[in-house]
Amino acid sequence: MPDHASGSNDTGCPSPDTAPDRPVPPPSGLLEALHAVQSKHGYVPRAQALQVSRKMGIPLARIFEVLTFYSFFRLEKPGKIRIAVCLGTSCHLQGGRELLAALEEMLGVRAGEATPDGLFQLDVVRCLGCCGRSPVLQINEKIYSQVATADLPAILQAHTAAAAAAEGDG
Ligand code: FES
Repeated sequence: MPDHASGSNDTGCPSPDTAPDRPVPPPSGLLEALHAVQSKHGYVPRAQALQVSRKMGIPLARIFEVLTFYSFFRLEKPGKIRIAVCLGTSCHLQGGRELLAALEEMLGVRAGEATPDGLFQLDVVRCLGCCGRSPVLQINEKIYSQVATADLPAILQAHTAAAAAAEGDG
């Protein structure tokens, strides 16, 4: 017979209502509000989180619980050029880890960070849908397939030059 009072059942597992890792559902409308902030700014600045908190009457601490629970929210300003290294199964087996390590070394950042000059953002993704051409990485909208670590300096240089030219035009 299930033992609801103690949070366990006859399987020996915690019941779904009391499982410790089960996220508390965010208040209605909060995720939408935070998504709107992130699509406008590229991340969720603290000042904007505070505004959402006041507007919706939700404690700031609760908002940060939600922001840190969902990995798609960013709390730091991202770099202008986003590099996404695929570490899905196929890319992982074909050298994705080596690409990531080489990029971390070249840029001086870890996955999830932006370079101090704000130019590059280094991220990891779990499949870009071109597994037959792994290892794959994406830089902004462009997909690079069957990338070797030796290709990386030229790829980064091309994007650095394009960003400098765009800045010169602007
Ligand atoms: S696993 Fe990398 S593109 Fe699918």
